[in-house]
Amino acid sequence: MVKIAPSLLSANFANLEAEIKALEKAKADMLHLDVMDGNFVPNLTFGPVVIKSIRPITKLCFDAHLMVQNPQKMIPWFADAGANIITVHAEACTHLDKALDTIHQYGCKAGVSLNPSTSEETIKYVLDKLDQVLIMSVNPGFGGQSFIESQLEKIAKVKEMIGGRKIEIEVDGGINPMTAAQCIAAGADILVAGTSVFAGGNYQKNINNLR
Ligand code: DX5
Ligand code: ZN
Repeated sequence: MVKIAPSLLSANFANLEAEIKALEKAKADMLHLDVMDGNFVPNLTFGPVVIKSIRPITKLCFDAHLMVQNPQKMIPWFADAGANIITVHAEACTHLDKALDTIHQYGCKAGVSLNPSTSEETIKYVLDKLDQVLIMSVNPGFGGQSFIESQLEKIAKVKEMIGGRKIEIEVDGGINPMTAAQCIAAGADILVAGTSVFAGGNYQKNINNLR
């Protein structure tokens, strides 16, 4: 069964506690936290202070997606704030292998994210250090963008590379019931969704539709 990871990016930030409780009630499998630094991506969101303050609200797994330059130095900040999974972008890491080790040293699960133009070959030599691969199906930075179809082939290729390893494939960007079905058919295990979970306010119905 596919897991649904709503992105907090589309929530009402004036009332995060109510939003998170509503997502929990709607049976979200985890909470996707889009951290943007205004450099690696052309948008700025939130950091460890906000994550730490929402940590006591829920037991949901915190899936921190770091869209930042030089994520290596920030790994301890997000681990201390209560992230359970920390995903770094391959494009932002000079020493990806080392960054993954650091994430594990801090007791978190480790993920690598690939922008739409980045080849799956980038993760070939770090597969044994991965818990998750996050395939971006939009260029990161903003919610509400259209799904980039070419990423379906990447999902299938990563699935093949993973083989028998216990690595989950997460897909992020432009997920709606139609693209969700395509991603699942290609091999996705976790779907991140912002717009399609929050649209109209019935989170339970929207999450069920995606599943
Ligand atoms: C994009 C973020 C996504 C995004 C998804 O940079 O990483 O998590 O918020 O939003 P939708 O579902 O609206 O494409
Ligand atoms: Zn994301």
